[in-house]
Amino acid sequence: MNVTIEGLSLSYGGVSAVQDLDLAIGDGESIVLLGQSGCGKTSTMRCVAGLETPSAGRIAIGDRAVFDGDSGKSVPSHKRNVGMVFQSYAVWPHKTVIENVAFPLRMKGQNRTLSRAKAFNVLELVGLAHLAHRGASQLSGGQMQRVALARSIAMEPSVLLLDEPLSNLDARLRDDLRVELRRIQLERGLTSLYVTHDQQEALALADRIAIMQSGRIQQLGTPQEIYRAPATASIATFLGVTNVFPVERGGDLGLRLEGHSVALRSSHPVPDGPISVAVRPEAVTVHDAERADELTSRANRLAGKVRVAVYQGSSVRYQVSIDGGPDLDVVSLDPVVLAPDTPVVVEVPEAAVSVLPDDTPAPATDAAAPAAGDTGAAA
Ligand SMILES: Nc1ncnc2c1ncn2[C@@H]1O[C@H](COP(=O)(O)OP(=O)(O)O)[C@@H](O)[C@H]1O
Ligand SMILES: [Mg+2]
Repeated sequence: MNVTIEGLSLSYGGVSAVQDLDLAIGDGESIVLLGQSGCGKTSTMRCVAGLETPSAGRIAIGDRAVFDGDSGKSVPSHKRNVGMVFQSYAVWPHKTVIENVAFPLRMKGQNRTLSRAKAFNVLELVGLAHLAHRGASQLSGGQMQRVALARSIAMEPSVLLLDEPLSNLDARLRDDLRVELRRIQLERGLTSLYVTHDQQEALALADRIAIMQSGRIQQLGTPQEIYRAPATASIATFLGVTNVFPVERGGDLGLRLEGHSVALRSSHPVPDGPISVAVRPEAVTVHDAERADELTSRANRLAGKVRVAVYQGSSVRYQVSIDGGPDLDVVSLDPVVLAPDTPVVVEVPEAAVSVLPDDTPAPATDAAAPAAGDTGAAA
């Protein structure tokens, strides 16, 4: 079912956690709220769930208003038909796997046979049918999280809310479950709101990603749109574009990197105000300087030296120290590994130089540092 959030604000005491947020989730759509810890993701989700009372705004699930700040209407959480999965494994340890999944259906008044049949069906979906009769306390973390997921799905919620459900799992399991979650979402056409601070997870699971900063959505788009064209320098940095450099305007050299004597030309328009350039490491190519005269493209060409080369199997990751410039990260698909200190020429295509509003505060301290109320590692 579609979900509409309009003008949502929430503050805890005097502290504002969500500010005038608008978001429309389509029926069957998966939206991922992505942002640093403390930016208001969990708070937003809890408002949709009915676990927090917003200070203003409207929330509708399908055609039904579940919260309206103007009229004071607020539908209690258990009547919103939302499913929730959290970071901590919320299973009943003394029940079997199938009892865990069937129990809420029983509570809703469904008969035993039907509840069990439904539960078994969903356990098949999450790959746990073979463990249906095992005690829940004998499961691994990944399996417990699958049980929690199965339980939410069995309830046939109008919207599934997931708050960093994979954060407590080890890397390999997280990867597996991520793929599986995406399959389930698509297979069941689940409408979901998924909260994470992990960009890989967001890219994998979202139909659209909403980037959150300081209680607001700063950018909304498909994973491809967000990844290829982050709206600001701080979003680019957050997304792991390692080559983000503030630039100075003016001069005929193009965009001169602040504090350096090198410049880059860009084929993109230059916005007003302070700007940075961002270059994806995989958009840069690196060439042995001895072969530089073979280069023919119309790219920016910068001379430098290999500082570090890390062989990664399918690619090589370099840090290149640019003459008169900063260190540049490069990911090369060329199987030849250039040794440290090799003089090189890097090519940066003009189309690969994004010019972004520089919204990052001066280097001093990071204002968006993890905040105390984060449900992060402690949960
Ligand atoms: N129960 C609470 N009481 C007071 N402040 C809170 C509470 N929960 C969250 N906050 C604050 O609200 C802001 C947003 O928190 P949260 O929504 O948990 O962020 P995220 O999920 O993105 O990490 C943070 O500054 C956090 O410290
Ligand atoms: Mg959170």
